[in-house]
Amino acid sequence: MAGFNVRSVLVTGANRGIGLGLVKQFLGKSNPPEWVFATCRDPEAERVQELKTLASRHPNLAIVALATRVEEHLKGSGLNLLINNAGVVKLSTLESETPENMSLVYTTNVTGPLLVSQAPLTVDMSVRGILNVLPTLSKKENGAFVSWEGKVLPW
Ligand SMILES: NC(=O)c1ccc[n+]([C@@H]2O[C@H](COP(=O)([O-])OP(=O)(O)OC[C@H]3O[C@@H](n4cnc5c(N)ncnc54)[C@H](OP(=O)(O)O)[C@@H]3O)[C@@H](O)[C@H]2O)c1
Repeated sequence: MAGFNVRSVLVTGANRGIGLGLVKQFLGKSNPPEWVFATCRDPEAERVQELKTLASRHPNLAIVALATRVEEHLKGSGLNLLINNAGVVKLSTLESETPENMSLVYTTNVTGPLLVSQAPLTVDMSVRGILNVLPTLSKKENGAFVSWEGKVLPW
């Protein structure tokens, strides 16, 4: 991660596994992010203990239960990196697969990350982004759906 520098990063499912491993790596960098947001679904659970111990040693690590809390910390400067790590794997065969399983995996691995990705965007950030994008537009974007960051979104 030598050349990897971000000011703020949010990792979902950060209490164990890959999520916890990523948080440890970010905090251990020689130039760590100013803010590392670690989310978990049950902050009181025993399996969150290791993350809590890390947070007690690193003031730039915040364990957050709600996305809105992230905005309070960042004070409108925006989140640089979102790692949608939380997820489940339910190994099954075509014969053993159940509607409940399929629904759980879809809700956790598809709906969840999509909702988390709706990270709070302030009116100010939105307006500044739009004003930056407007002068870059030309005829070729005619009819296109362009985001506040200037990305052409397929529709
Ligand atoms: N490890 C692999 O080889 C591998 C391979 C391919 C893909 N992946 C994907 O990589 C990600 C991390 O893998 P991992 O091995 O670190 O998994 P893991 O050890 O099982 O950890 C999963 C994390 O996701 C959280 N989580 C699960 N369901 C959730 C829900 N409904 N809402 C909120 N949080 C939820 C868990 O929280 P709790 O502690 O509360 O359960 C935990 O923090 C997963 O998305 C996994 O599917 C892993």
